[in-house]
Amino acid sequence: MENTTGTETSYPLFLQIYEFIRNRMERGEWKAHDKLPSIRGLAEELKVHRLTVFKAYRQLAEDGKVYVKDKSGYYVSQGGSPSLVAMDGADLTMAAALNSNRLSDIQRLPAQYQFSQALIDPGLLPNLFLSEYVKKVFDLYPKVMGTYSSVQGDEELRETLSLHFREHHRLQLSREELLITSGAQQAINLVADILLGPMDSILVERPTYSLAMDIFRRKGARLVPVTITPEGYDLAEVEDLMARHKPRLFYMNPTHHNPTGYTVPAWQRKLLVELAERYHCLLVEDDPFRDIYFAEPPPLPFFAYDTEGWVIYISSFSKYVAPGLRICAVACRYPLMERLITAKALADNGTSLLNQKIFLHYYTSPRLQQHLGKLRIALQVHKEIMEEELAGTGWEWTAPQGGLNLWVKLPEQLKVEALFRASLRESIVFVPGEICDALGEMKSWVRLSYSFVNEITLREGMRRLTALANQIE
Ligand SMILES: Cc1ncc(COP(=O)(O)O)c(C=O)c1O
Repeated sequence: MENTTGTETSYPLFLQIYEFIRNRMERGEWKAHDKLPSIRGLAEELKVHRLTVFKAYRQLAEDGKVYVKDKSGYYVSQGGSPSLVAMDGADLTMAAALNSNRLSDIQRLPAQYQFSQALIDPGLLPNLFLSEYVKKVFDLYPKVMGTYSSVQGDEELRETLSLHFREHHRLQLSREELLITSGAQQAINLVADILLGPMDSILVERPTYSLAMDIFRRKGARLVPVTITPEGYDLAEVEDLMARHKPRLFYMNPTHHNPTGYTVPAWQRKLLVELAERYHCLLVEDDPFRDIYFAEPPPLPFFAYDTEGWVIYISSFSKYVAPGLRICAVACRYPLMERLITAKALADNGTSLLNQKIFLHYYTSPRLQQHLGKLRIALQVHKEIMEEELAGTGWEWTAPQGGLNLWVKLPEQLKVEALFRASLRESIVFVPGEICDALGEMKSWVRLSYSFVNEITLREGMRRLTALANQIE
């Protein structure tokens, strides 16, 4: 199947194949001096034209990742598989992070002014209460460490969450339609496992959460971008893309979206569920920021509008309870749930029971609502500090109504890469926007997270960042 994605709107097919090969090299499946599959063989395997594979190989050769032996074919270069995964912290230099263009590498860079983590300052999270609950859980369930959780997740926790979702978000769910995963990251992985194969088309927002794109690319999926704006999506564009590409799924983060903070309005949610039904495209709704709003609660999840089972709802509690507990709930209908449970069994046989019970006891205590109330205020103050420090710089953003980030457009003459390099030398780190873009463009955008550092460090870091920008311009 030749590229039908249309190069003007999607990542070129030969670059997707380039990524597919590079991923295999990084994982060590193809090592230095291994022979790569023939052009004809790979073209047949991936169902693409031979010229497309040839273009990918040629690009890999130009980038020094493979070399050609006369008449014999293409081979992996020494050092062609940099395997950042295998490097330890000390080796992970600024250059490596820049070259890999991966969020996970950027987030591992040590920095005092940490604006790259869309996580909450641990000082604002309920650590003390959680440690109290650890003791309580051991008293209540003395054998908790001696047993597995059920693969699908602790029954008591699923029951509690199904009631919570029904009451607060109008999701009609039974506990059998919930799966507990180790974070949203695992949920996205499981969804990709059961639904995607090489060269399957999927829709992703542009920009989007880059680690999700990394997962989908690793599966060999073709990413077709859908622009998200402060007003949501262009539904005519979405319909056109669904009709043309027949995507397996649309990965979306429609509420206080990462990286932009935008929220898709209620009227679009209903219509999009209808489109999903019509074009048989699953909507994968990743919703970790729902409860982090400043003034008004956001519109109901897409899942609330779905009667036919076209939405998979992923609700992680990493952002406002504890990223370390790795608790996330996935809601979907059968038979899809059955397949997810099987994938979960193969992945880890169930999330830690101890973590689920600690979470459950905190979640059902009145402290949760008190904590959330205070957290919303604290995060709004953080956001306002960042905005105050950006006022008058000429940098542009749309003020989000919740979430953890500002998505900021820099003035034309200020190059993100130059600012990024200079910032690292001053121990400031942020996310270059192109990492969040399936097309690898958006080069004048950055994501600045206001949630991870305390207020004093936030203000100081922003002052340093804007002063640096003035020196570079
Ligand atoms: C949109 C989105 N999805 C998923 C995740 C991962 O969440 P978890 O910690 O639950 O794996 C993040 C974390 O930043 C995120 O922003």
